[in-house]
Formats: sequence, structure tokens, C-alpha cells
Amino acid sequence: MPSQKIIIDTDPGQDDAIGILLALASPAELDVLGIVTVAGNVPLSLTSRNALILCELANKTETKVFAGCSRPLVRPLVTAEHVHGKTGLDGAELPPPTMSLQKQHGVDWTIETLLEAEDNSITICCFAPLTNVAMAMIKAPQILPKIKNIVMMGGGYFEGGNITPTSEFNIFVDPHAASTVLSCGRPLVMLPLDVTHKALMQRKWLEDLKALGTPVGDAAFGMMSFYERFDLEKYGSGGGPLHDPTVIAYLLQQELFEGKFVNVEIEISSELTMGMTVVDWWKVTDRPPNVTYINQINADGFFQLILKRLAIL
Ligand code: BDR
Ligand code: CA
Repeated sequence: MPSQKIIIDTDPGQDDAIGILLALASPAELDVLGIVTVAGNVPLSLTSRNALILCELANKTETKVFAGCSRPLVRPLVTAEHVHGKTGLDGAELPPPTMSLQKQHGVDWTIETLLEAEDNSITICCFAPLTNVAMAMIKAPQILPKIKNIVMMGGGYFEGGNITPTSEFNIFVDPHAASTVLSCGRPLVMLPLDVTHKALMQRKWLEDLKALGTPVGDAAFGMMSFYERFDLEKYGSGGGPLHDPTVIAYLLQQELFEGKFVNVEIEISSELTMGMTVVDWWKVTDRPPNVTYINQINADGFFQLILKRLAIL
């Protein structure tokens, strides 16, 4: 029996793709109840299509995929084709999906699933703007006790932002949703740029992916090769950061990560710093801690975990 029931909320996105594949490759630990898509890296029609394509790539056609919200709660949608390409999965040659989306709206399914669950039993894994999760909390606050944990990729403090000087993409796209989720009172774990910028893809790892010689290895190599070009140009670093799979790796091997339980608030008023994650790292205020904020990773262990799991798909 898998030890953890999870919902994946996502906007694939090549790095989301690796996160989804990693989760689907880990049935001994993770029971993926469903995948819910949201508008983010690319519009909802594409993130939904991509999620279906990825389930088929992983040969997990029984996975339920639901489309969620098509735009943020308040602000207009901002997408990231400049990073992910036109489709969101540029770099991989993948056939169109034969699977279909589930009919129910992703937010309604999330609510229904949580309401039917035992208290403290489901982990929500967020790879994207938090619109769906916030909507579910607003629509049905009685879901809150059912949530065991919310583990999200988002934010950045010491590293600054990647879409504006102060703000990370997932939080910036829907800062009002992020603020709602951060104040929900349930356990929260954030994997911000401060940790993902320490998880840089090395050439050898990319070659190892390719050497798997499988459709998953080929697709992962193609997607990652396309995706890292943007960060390489931008940061001039030794490899592009692999963001979203840190969420799943955290569930699988928590010992790879370190962080601190601190207060994190979201800026939702200032246009200049909109979506900034204000982290009280040094506890200089009386604001109560609400987030386990991760800032350290054993990068080698992380990349080996992904390689090992993707090899079995
Ligand atoms: C986050 O933004 C998206 O572009 C990635 O998929 C990731 O979720 C990184 O800032
Ligand atoms: Ca994402």
C-alpha cells in the first residue's frame, strides 16, 4: 500500500513533467489520486493536454486528469512561453493524447475528494500558481482538516525572483491565491528558488537520462535540453534549475532537504514587488511561523533519485 495519498496541481511545463513522471514512477510510496491542471506556464487547454500526454508517456493511462481554473483569481494571466516554448513541452516529440480529461472541474473534484477523505490524510503537491487550491479553500473551507500537508514549489527570498526582480513565477501569477493558501492554517512546505537554484542539471545527468534508451528517457532528455537553455543564458550557471520535481522528491526522501519553520507572507498590494514572498528567516517579527521554508538540498541525491525512478517507467 502506498504510504501517501497525493493530489498534483500543475501547469506542465517541462519541469512539471519530470515531477509528474517521478510521482507516477513511485507507486510504492505515492498514491496519485488525480492530477489537476491550471493556467500558468501556458494556457489551461495546453497544460491539460500536456498532463494527458505525460500520463500516456508514463504508461499510466488510468490516472485521472482534471482541468481546473483558466485564469488567476484577480489578476490577468501571465504565461511563460519564453521559458517553456509554445506548447509547454517543447523539446520532446510526443504523440497527441488519446486519453480524455475527466468531466468534473478540477476544483470540484479536489473538494469532493478531500471531503470524502479522513482528516489529515491527503497531501496536495503544487507545481504551479495556487489558483485551484485557493478556490477549493474559498468554496469549501470544510476541506481544511482533511489536508495533511501542502507541499509547493514557489517563492524565493535570498535568490530574489525569476519573473520580476522580487517574485517567483508561481507566486507572481496568482499572488492572491498564494496569500489565501499561506494563511490556511494547515502544514505548508515551500520549495523556493533558494533551493531549486541549488538543484542544477549537469550535462552528465542529461546524458544519463538519454542513455536510459526508453521513450521516457528520450522525452525527458529532449525536454530538459530545451528547457535549460533559457536559464543557462540568463544565469550563465553550470546547468538549469529543476524546480517542480523537488516537491515529489521531498515526499520520497525528506532527508535530502533542510529548512526552517518561519513566517512567510505574500505581497499583494505593491505593483513593484507584487508576489514577493516575504520570509522572516531571522525571526525579526512576532508574526507566527506558517511555512517550513526549504533552503538546502543534496543535489546529487535528488538527481540520482529522479534517474533511478524514471528508469523504471
Ligand atoms: C516555476 O515556474 C514555472 O515556470 C515552473 O514550471 C516552476 O513551477 C519556477 O519558477
Ligand atoms: Ca510548474
